[in-house]
Amino acid sequence: MANENEKELAGRAAAKLVRDGDVVGLGTGSTAYFAVVALGERVKAGLKIVGIPTSNATADLAKKVGVPLTTLDEHPEIDITIDGADEVDPRLNLIKGGGGALLREKVVASASKKMVVISDSSKLVPVLGKFPLPVEVISFARAVVGKKIAGLGASVKWRTRADGSPYLTDNGNPILDCSFGEIEDPAALARILSDMPGVVEHGLFIGLATVALVGKGTSVEEIVRP
Ligand code: A5P
Repeated sequence: MANENEKELAGRAAAKLVRDGDVVGLGTGSTAYFAVVALGERVKAGLKIVGIPTSNATADLAKKVGVPLTTLDEHPEIDITIDGADEVDPRLNLIKGGGGALLREKVVASASKKMVVISDSSKLVPVLGKFPLPVEVISFARAVVGKKIAGLGASVKWRTRADGSPYLTDNGNPILDCSFGEIEDPAALARILSDMPGVVEHGLFIGLATVALVGKGTSVEEIVRP
């Protein structure tokens, strides 16, 4: 079960790692929310940073709480990114994209010197794969890609909105949620998916996170990538 207090503890702990002058990648989701709010408080207290949002929702939140924004065109190198995850394994491989922002999240993470993953304790898993892996595809290719991923043994669902219409990301693409069960070799699966024509990006983040801050009860556990 997700725990809001643990999310807030992790988010606030991560916001403390940001230093004056940093370019900060701002993640998306209910845990990243707490980090952005805490950064807004620090900015009001005098911290000088610029943020790069990973979604329209995070851009709106950052504006609301007073975190100044910039773009990757202005700042193609990011000092620190703080973002949530849907699953975190012991090597800090991640499944992301439950909130649909995986493409911009991965671009931002890949441009970052340090990626801090924040989560509540429910996200820690021994092996990735219980959470359906989000795969962003171009609409034109969705049936072809869906068939190929099903051929790998996954059960594949088109993501839809509450009213049943197709879910589209901030980039205008649909998402396939792919249940693989336990993913024994996430790096190998990541390569296979990246090689499929029509796949824009998938939610396996391999070797991108440098440290995880995980809320556990009333404290925060730090896990450094081995
Ligand atoms: C957004 O697309 C995702 O990658 C989120 O970072 C992830 O789903 C975690 O979200 P929560 O913090 O809301 O669980």
